Amino acid sequence: MSNMPRKPIAIEKNMRFVDRVLLLSLPVGSIFVILVAAGILPAWIAVSSYAACVVFNIIFLFPLTYELQQLKRYITGMSHGSEIDDQELVLEEQDSQEIINAVNAMHKFWSEKNDVLEAQTISDTAVLDTLPDPLMMIDENGVISGANLAARTLFGKNIREKSIDKIISSNNFIEAINRILRDDSESESLIFYISKPVDKKLYAHIKKLPYISQGNAIAVISIYDLTKAMKIEKMQSDFVANASHELRTPLAVISGFIETLQTSAKNDPQAQDKFLGIMKEQAEYMSALIENLLSLSKIELMQDNLPDTQVNIVKIVNEVAQGLFLKAQEHETEIHVLIEDDIPEITADAQQIKQVVQNLTDNAIKYGTPHNDIVIKIGLIDSIPSAPNLKIQEGKAVSISVTNKGPKISDDKLARLTERFYRMQEHKDKNIKGTGLGLSIAKQIIVRHRGNLTVKSNAYNGTTFTIYLPQHLQQ
Ligand SMILES: Nc1ncnc2c1ncn2[C@@H]1O[C@H](COP(=O)(O)OP(=O)(O)OP(=O)(O)O)[C@@H](O)[C@H]1O
Ligand SMILES: [Mg+2]
Repeated sequence: MSNMPRKPIAIEKNMRFVDRVLLLSLPVGSIFVILVAAGILPAWIAVSSYAACVVFNIIFLFPLTYELQQLKRYITGMSHGSEIDDQELVLEEQDSQEIINAVNAMHKFWSEKNDVLEAQTISDTAVLDTLPDPLMMIDENGVISGANLAARTLFGKNIREKSIDKIISSNNFIEAINRILRDDSESESLIFYISKPVDKKLYAHIKKLPYISQGNAIAVISIYDLTKAMKIEKMQSDFVANASHELRTPLAVISGFIETLQTSAKNDPQAQDKFLGIMKEQAEYMSALIENLLSLSKIELMQDNLPDTQVNIVKIVNEVAQGLFLKAQEHETEIHVLIEDDIPEITADAQQIKQVVQNLTDNAIKYGTPHNDIVIKIGLIDSIPSAPNLKIQEGKAVSISVTNKGPKISDDKLARLTERFYRMQEHKDKNIKGTGLGLSIAKQIIVRHRGNLTVKSNAYNGTTFTIYLPQHLQQ
């Protein structure tokens, strides 16, 4: 409501009121003049009657003029944007009051319409800002008249009022915009590249609007970032290339030995034994690789559905430790399980968690220094440490850490351990068998459980892999 103080209303100092009074009194005045001239009325009676008539006109006209001026001020104030006062104007004259009521009703109607429009615009902008893809509107001069949050994030905060060719300089894109602006085309779609602010491959769809919309927009440009899709495509093709390469190597070894067995080693039982042993090893490697590849794709398919069974972690860890007892013995080491707290059951996928613990313990045996025991600790913590780009469940969690002694793993190698097919050169050189997929599978499983996986390594304490699993998973 308007806070403007109301001016005391007085009759304006212009001649209109006086004019009107004089004009109304003129016919009566003329009659008095004729009556005096004809000697019918004495002059003093005529003058005093005329004066009475003028006074009567003043009394009669004043309220009307006063209200008209109030009305004028009220409507003028409103037309300049001031709002209706809390106490609406009340006038004596019925006609004036009706005019005021009509004006108030009209004002109320448009104020409400305006509120609805404003709310609509705010909600439209909020909706556009939630869209993940950039969206811009341009006017008939190619100037950006609107941009959603994604567009402002990609091209800069202050892109509004800038010419679109200053933001996107690709020739193909500008030509497409010009075709729209010249009315040569109703819509355009194209793929183009930008180098600023970062290198990107983008797809744009430019559509002319059927009417001129808010902010004089005549066309909408929607943009889709193809860079991410390209990266995913590349990752997939790299993965297929890596997997085929990993399978081709043992297959070539097996084929080579088959040929040798059929020819030069045909009658050499000693060589046959040796070669069959190697072939068995290679076949086992191939089957482990295929097993892991299948496991990866299965986990990827399940990635979006949360586990919903109650799992006893202590039982799983003990089963793994017992299962790997012999392998640990072969490597002249022992596995110790330490349960540090009262461990509750957690919501998890038992088979997947077993697979993770199995791989971490297997790694500790394979890559740890012999004669140094492997320690698995299970504890209860209040919250899982955060990690960038990971959706982690809040609340209590169980931690399982697997530690083995061994040389420190450098930071650059630590960062690559969960990459698919990554194996440290020193372990390949020592001919330690592995597919390089165990930790990437572990990571996928932990992500599905909204947990976290950390690795620490130093020369004194050795290497510790810790997995954190939430006690409760919320859908
Ligand atoms: N505890 C560890 N100590 C030292 N290096 C490790 C340890 N765990 C893993 N690594 C290194 O990380 C690499 C990747 O491990 P990952 O478990 O993913 O594959 P892998 O053990 O080679 O193969 P798989 O798990 O299929 O047997 C290993 O090849 C090894 O070089
Ligand atoms: Mg492994």
